[in-house]
Amino acid sequence: MYNINIEKKYNIYIEKNFNNLKNFLIKDNIKYNNIVVITDDNVEKYYLQDIKNIFEKENVLTYVIKAGEQSKNLNEIYNIYEFLLNNNIDRKSIILSLGGGVVGDIAGFVASTYMRGIKFIQIPTTLLAQVDSSIGGKTGVDFFNKKNIIGTFYNPALVYININTLKTLPTNQFENGMAEVIKHGYILDKEYLNFIMDKKEKIKDYDKDTLAQMIYKSCKIKANIVSIDEKEQGIREILNFGHTFGHAIETESNFSILHGQGVAIGIIASMYISYLQGYITMEDIKKAKDILKYFNVYKTKDFNIKNIYENMTYDKKNDNKQIKIIMLRHIGQAFATNKVSQQTILDAIKYALEG
Ligand SMILES: NC(=O)c1ccc[n+]([C@@H]2O[C@H](COP(=O)([O-])OP(=O)(O)OC[C@H]3O[C@@H](n4cnc5c(N)ncnc54)[C@H](O)[C@@H]3O)[C@@H](O)[C@H]2O)c1
Repeated sequence: MYNINIEKKYNIYIEKNFNNLKNFLIKDNIKYNNIVVITDDNVEKYYLQDIKNIFEKENVLTYVIKAGEQSKNLNEIYNIYEFLLNNNIDRKSIILSLGGGVVGDIAGFVASTYMRGIKFIQIPTTLLAQVDSSIGGKTGVDFFNKKNIIGTFYNPALVYININTLKTLPTNQFENGMAEVIKHGYILDKEYLNFIMDKKEKIKDYDKDTLAQMIYKSCKIKANIVSIDEKEQGIREILNFGHTFGHAIETESNFSILHGQGVAIGIIASMYISYLQGYITMEDIKKAKDILKYFNVYKTKDFNIKNIYENMTYDKKNDNKQIKIIMLRHIGQAFATNKVSQQTILDAIKYALEG
């Protein structure tokens, strides 16, 4: 259906089923002997058999993790290494990551380190993974309560998106992914943002063609950014729009809210700072609140503002504890700054939490 090529490194295919998976592996000259599917115990029930059917005459091994962020740790990685060794998985094997961002980050980390790197394919099944985490090569696990603190940059050999997997995704997980989709419009593409606003009903109704177009456009935005700045030395940081606030809010909530909900509050806080500095209007902020609320991802909360600020000072993207904020110069154009005062940041958190 759709195809994006990242700087001649790998292809992202967007399809309505799994039928072309094997054809694309052949077309992209991706050779292997054994296949290891890493998935989680939710996704396994829905899609593992479909994948096995595609490779019916081949040797497919499966490693299933318990679904959820708690699995993203070094013990799980240890167990997977052991499983690979016990099954004589060598460098000519391939890892297929079938699942959301948790599975993708784990499988990518294993693939990048086992025998100094074996090929892996991303088959993302959440909206967040399809438009965000499966693209760009960041892998990793959490350590000592710090998210994604151990990890690598390692590109997949191919990304295969079957948009039909979204049908079984819980609604709140779909909404979670919409925060990233909306973010893409704000940071880089006003036209795309208008598309999301115009087609919001169809998106909510899971209209396949609209979803395919949306995922294609979002993947293209992410792909363009990461192909210019693979290791996050510059422009890639604008993808963190709303995220410094978002991570700090997630931490303050003890991870009781979804990532997208933290990001949505963060988007509004960042936009409020952009407004205070004269870049955008109150009307722009109102529209952002409306679209985020439409997708049920912007919810007001009674969190401690000072704690959120304190958490922000520990963000690993900061320079010398100077909080880095991604702001908007216009709708569709973002930039990074570490020159926002503490009081302005506190005011912005307060504003965004009020709804
Ligand atoms: N590598 C990156 O660049 C990057 C970027 C953003 C986020 N992340 C990471 O991604 C993770 C979050 O990913 P996520 O939001 O996809 O969460 P997730 O992987 O935990 O998936 C969410 C839930 O949906 C279930 N699920 C997945 N696909 C399904 C489907 N099609 N049908 C039914 N249920 C399904 C999962 O089992 C899980 O319970 C975090 O660990 C985050 O750090 C990584």
